[in-house]
Amino acid sequence: MAEAFAPGKCILFGEHAVVYGHPAVAIAIEQGVNVSIKKSEEWMIGGKKFDPSKHPHISHILHDLFHYKGEPLKIEIQSQLFSAAGLGSSAALSNAMGAALHKLVNPNEKLDVIKLAKLGHSAEAAAQEGRASPTDTATSSLGGCVVVSGEKIGGTEHIFDTELVTPEGKRTWSISKAILPEGVEDIWLILGFTGVASPTGKMVAGVADLLSREPHKKDVMNDINEITHRGLKALSVGNFGDVGVAMNECHEHLRSLGVSNESLDRLVEAVRPYSLGAKMTGAGGGGCMVALSKEPQRVSEQIEIAGGIPMISKLLSKGVRVL
Ligand code: PMV
Repeated sequence: MAEAFAPGKCILFGEHAVVYGHPAVAIAIEQGVNVSIKKSEEWMIGGKKFDPSKHPHISHILHDLFHYKGEPLKIEIQSQLFSAAGLGSSAALSNAMGAALHKLVNPNEKLDVIKLAKLGHSAEAAAQEGRASPTDTATSSLGGCVVVSGEKIGGTEHIFDTELVTPEGKRTWSISKAILPEGVEDIWLILGFTGVASPTGKMVAGVADLLSREPHKKDVMNDINEITHRGLKALSVGNFGDVGVAMNECHEHLRSLGVSNESLDRLVEAVRPYSLGAKMTGAGGGGCMVALSKEPQRVSEQIEIAGGIPMISKLLSKGVRVL
């Protein structure tokens, strides 16, 4: 038997702007997806017969990436993540599956997390008509605080570059890690799920439409870019007060792009008195918000009172691992 765990993520700064070439900052969270596989007489997943068309990420990893030709497998998946909520659940699934399969096929070889991030990205793209940013898979593989950008960003540790041929042409990204100082143990991320799944593609298309109708809104992207750089700098020196201020500002800019909604605004508003900062995270239109706080229980309570589902995570969590 082989088992692996891969974390989910949340975006702290730069969602939507990253689509227009600006950087995004994502953080791995404690919660994630666990995959265990063992050899079996027939192909099974979650106690049912395995139908590859219902599990595109898993089947791409098995057949197109690993070229697995061994005995049938019994696959068990346990997820702690809300799906289609901006927490990177499909990337965590791809990474955990890739890591578990690596353990089964190459038990004595060390897991190469960069290779795994690239495999996971390819699985995401295959399941999403050839379009996927590497943010979720890279953050889930590497853990910690990951910066995805069109070019290298000063003050971060460059880890790898990656590219993808999309229907719109070749895209390239630089993946770096932000190095946070010691002493972040008393700072927490609190996610609040609105209970509404949100399709990223629809939200990204909505922003593209807005920009073509109102070209001056491109300035909002430049403002988010400035906030992202400022937030990242504050994170790197452990100035969490300024990180929170940048998160609050980022939320207002995302609102002006029309990607927040009433329930996200309500949760963000509810936690502000107990938080350093709070904002929607990911594509918006539903999904989750995130708060940075030293009072995780109080923030959780406020999220529940305001009608959301809370989840508390340490600020810095490790990346994918074989168990
Ligand atoms: O909600 P998520 O994790 O799918 O984040 C989407 C982030 C966007 O910037 C809106 C889209 C993208 O591809 O980066």
